Amino acid sequence: MNEVMKTILHRRSIRRFAERQIEEEALQQIIQAGLYAPSAGGRQGVLFAVCQDKAVNEHLGRIKRANSQPRMATATSYVSREQPSIADDPNLKNAFYDAPTVITLFAPKNFLFAAEDCAIAAENMMLAADSLGVGSCYIGQGWTAFADPYGQEILRQWNIRADYYAVMQLLLGYPKEGDSHPTPKPRHENRVLRF
Ligand SMILES: Cc1cc2nc3c(=O)[nH]c(=O)nc-3n(C[C@H](O)[C@H](O)[C@H](O)COP(=O)(O)O)c2cc1C
Repeated sequence: MNEVMKTILHRRSIRRFAERQIEEEALQQIIQAGLYAPSAGGRQGVLFAVCQDKAVNEHLGRIKRANSQPRMATATSYVSREQPSIADDPNLKNAFYDAPTVITLFAPKNFLFAAEDCAIAAENMMLAADSLGVGSCYIGQGWTAFADPYGQEILRQWNIRADYYAVMQLLLGYPKEGDSHPTPKPRHENRVLRF
């Protein structure tokens, strides 16, 4: 198996992070992976807002948690036992799980492929991260982190254009010391139709 395939199969969502910040060299490569992702029409409209301010990330993560209503986990239905999500553990108050780096991907509000452009950039970045030993997690509905006066003030401080919106966040950090790498859930069957 080649290295790309190995990385694709190895990547898992990480929600328990070490406190130390990721290496700048690794961050630069992860950002580059996002910048080189495909984009609809080649428009390259996605903006990557990289925040390594602990207080800001924590505040936005808490706003997001307060604005999230996930379908809570049951014994048979859960997101991850090894790396609990906010749907698995109601005690988690920060939807960004104290990740030391949070990248919010913004895209134009009136663009049909805004979400796809962000998602595909994020996957490039998550694979790059995994290949560099950095853990990552995709956080959907990015706008909910900015849905109160504090979040609105952050958007102003970051000079985010009013015609852009936060599609999602990408969490980055080294996996928490001592954690084993999560195992993937078995793949559901009969999802490939061949003709
Ligand atoms: C569109 C999308 C939205 C997601 N949103 C969240 C989220 O808000 N919080 C979270 O903890 N994980 C989120 N995830 C991560 C998924 O829970 C995770 O990919 C899934 O459980 C499979 O685990 P794996 O990534 O380890 O393979 C999201 C993933 C996708 C693709």
